[in-house]
This record gives sequence, structure tokens and C-alpha cells, in this order.
Amino acid sequence: MSRYTDNQAAWIPEEKATVKVGPGPTPDPGENDVVIEVAYAAVNPTDFKMQDTPYFPLPYPFIFGTDVTGKVVQLGSNVTRFKIGQRVTGHCDSLLTHKATRAGYQRYTTVREILVCAIPDNIPLAQAAVLPLSVSTASSALFKTLKLPFPTMHPKPTGKRILIWGGSSSVGASAIQLAVAAGYTVATTAGVQNHDLVRSLGAAYVVDHKDPNAIQEILKVLKQNDLVLDSISAPNTQVACSEILGKIGGGKLACLLWPEKTKFDNVEIVFVNGLDPGMVDLDIGDAVWRKYMPEALAAGKFQPKPDAEILEGGLEKVQEGIDILRKGVSGKKIVIELQKEA
Ligand SMILES: NC(=O)c1ccc[n+]([C@@H]2O[C@H](COP(=O)([O-])OP(=O)(O)OC[C@H]3O[C@@H](n4cnc5c(N)ncnc54)[C@H](OP(=O)(O)O)[C@@H]3O)[C@@H](O)[C@H]2O)c1
Repeated sequence: MSRYTDNQAAWIPEEKATVKVGPGPTPDPGENDVVIEVAYAAVNPTDFKMQDTPYFPLPYPFIFGTDVTGKVVQLGSNVTRFKIGQRVTGHCDSLLTHKATRAGYQRYTTVREILVCAIPDNIPLAQAAVLPLSVSTASSALFKTLKLPFPTMHPKPTGKRILIWGGSSSVGASAIQLAVAAGYTVATTAGVQNHDLVRSLGAAYVVDHKDPNAIQEILKVLKQNDLVLDSISAPNTQVACSEILGKIGGGKLACLLWPEKTKFDNVEIVFVNGLDPGMVDLDIGDAVWRKYMPEALAAGKFQPKPDAEILEGGLEKVQEGIDILRKGVSGKKIVIELQKEA
């Protein structure tokens, strides 16, 4: 079997340190793993959060990065779904496995097969890099926490509605599309500059989250027992989403950050883990990453959104990408180019 000993990586030398590029670890895939030669890696809020105020200790020096696209260069003995040279995207699990070989900001990364998805030729690898964490997290929220039916190519309308607060965020953009593919009607919030974006993804109702009457406007389109996903999950959005859910009958509020206290007794704020579909709830990973996403991407039914803003210049640009995202983005995702796609 080939050994990729020429790896390069964007290392975080110690807790809270800035990125330093140097030789990377040699991939050593298990039987269910796929080694990807990374062309593009997307930056996520978790990168600057783990750099600034780590949620938990990591074995430094460590490598960050969860979202990659590139070509398959090595396959574990059990993996039959992919071919060497195939264009794919993958969701790296290094933050939970604590293994640097399984992180995104390096030339070769190792990803578990269930979190790898073929990318059709008409979708640039740079754009597909926006997908992995966003799709996995939206899936965990919708199909684990909120128990929507799995997405299908021809969904039967359920007659039910879901509010996805923050539809122009990365997680929100995928959540809108997956909820529509599960047969739900979607209401969402976004800045006015992103209303066309969220409508193009399938949202039926859009409210500006900066509108002082946003909560009342949303309540006009929701019914009792509709669902709520807070795909921003800042303290103020949890308050707003709790109030909305509390007033339409309560239940679980799917939340992407640590749950705040809520004054609504009928609301339970539940933390969503984006890696659950690949590590815990394998039925969700199977339904979404193995079955729905490859077919939906090939048919043009699922759009990798928001648009990628590409930073050329390789691993040396990782810290710059993290710094840009720390300042905030609107309806776009920062993507580092490690190797330009021909
Ligand atoms: N638990 C997990 O596994 C997990 C996984 C992924 C992400 N997360 C967390 O989830 C959050 C979202 O991540 P992301 O990558 O999707 O974010 P992102 O794409 O960086 O979010 C940017 C978007 O947030 C929107 N936004 C900001 N404040 C808002 C508000 N008050 N109401 C509605 N929209 C607002 C902006 O909308 P406009 O510009 O349209 O105003 C902007 O388009 C982050 O805190 C991240 O750390 C958690």
C-alpha cells in the first residue's frame, strides 16, 4: 500500500497559538477510512473558537479543519463505495478522535467512509468544500433532535412547518434544503441582503432577523407543534427561538452551542453534535451521506451554499482564513485553496 510520507500540515503548536506550516503526519487509515489528497478546506467558526477559548483540551501540536474536498488516494480494505482518483468531500472527525491525521488543514487527511461523499463533475471542489460540517450538523439537528423523516428526492409534503433561524449561515443553508427534502415547509430568518439566497434554497417564508418585530412576523406563519432549529444559537437567538417555540406548543429546540436557560417551561434546549451522524447515529450518516447527498448533488437538487470565498496560497493562508471568519461573514464561506483544481 502507498505511504504518503510527503505530507504538509497547518499546525497549531500549542493551545491558543497561531498556525505554523510544517511536515504533516503520515496517513495510517483503518479498514473503514478514506485518505483524501486535499484540494480545498473550508474554515468554520469552531476553528477560531478552539484557537481563542478551547472547548476542551487537545493533544498539541494539533491540526484544525473539518471540511475538505479533493481526490481519493487511499482506501481502507472495507471501503468499496469509492475509487482512487474520485472527486469527493469529507467531514473530518479529528476534534472528537483527537487524531491529527484526521484533521482537514493538511495535504492528506483520513476520513471515515460514512462521512465521505462523491462530488459530481459539474460542482467545483472549491464550492463543495462548504458542505461537510454544515450538512452533518443540519442532519443531526433535523433527523436526530427534531425527528424529521429522512430526505428523499421526491418528498411527500408533510403539511408541517419548521423555523430555521439563521438560514444564510452555513448550517442554515443546508438545513433549509434538507428540511424541504424531508417534506417540510420552511420559514427562516436572514439579513435582507440574503433573502434571495434563502428563497433559492427553498425557504417559503423569510423574515429579517434585525426587524424588531421579527418574532411576531414569524409567529404569523407558524402553527401549533411546528418545529424550531436555531442555526445561530447565540444567547439572543436562543431567547428568540425559545419564545417562538414556547408560544407554538413547546418541545425540543435544536441548538448548536451550549444551551442557555429558558423561561419557557415547555421548551427543552438540546445541544446538537455535528459529528453524531458519522460516529453515533450511523443510520443518519447512511441516509444522508451515503444515499441522499450523492444523488441530490448529481441531480442539482441540493446546492452547496453559501458561496465559497476562495483564499489562494495554500496552508500558509489558514490563519488568515480563520482571522477573516473571526470578524464574521454574511452569506459566504471562507475556503482555503491547497491545490488549484485544473
Ligand atoms: N454543534 C455543532 O456541531 C456545530 C457545527 C457547526 C457550527 N456550529 C456553530 O453554529 C453556529 C453557526 O455556524 P455557521 O458556520 O453556520 O455560521 P456562519 O455561516 O459563519 O454564520 C454567518 C451567518 O450568520 C448569520 N447571523 C448572524 N447573526 C444572526 C442572527 N442574530 N440571526 C440570524 N442570523 C444571524 C448571518 O446572517 P446575515 O448576514 O444574513 O444577517 C451570516 O450569514 C456557530 O456558532 C458555530 O460555532 C456548531
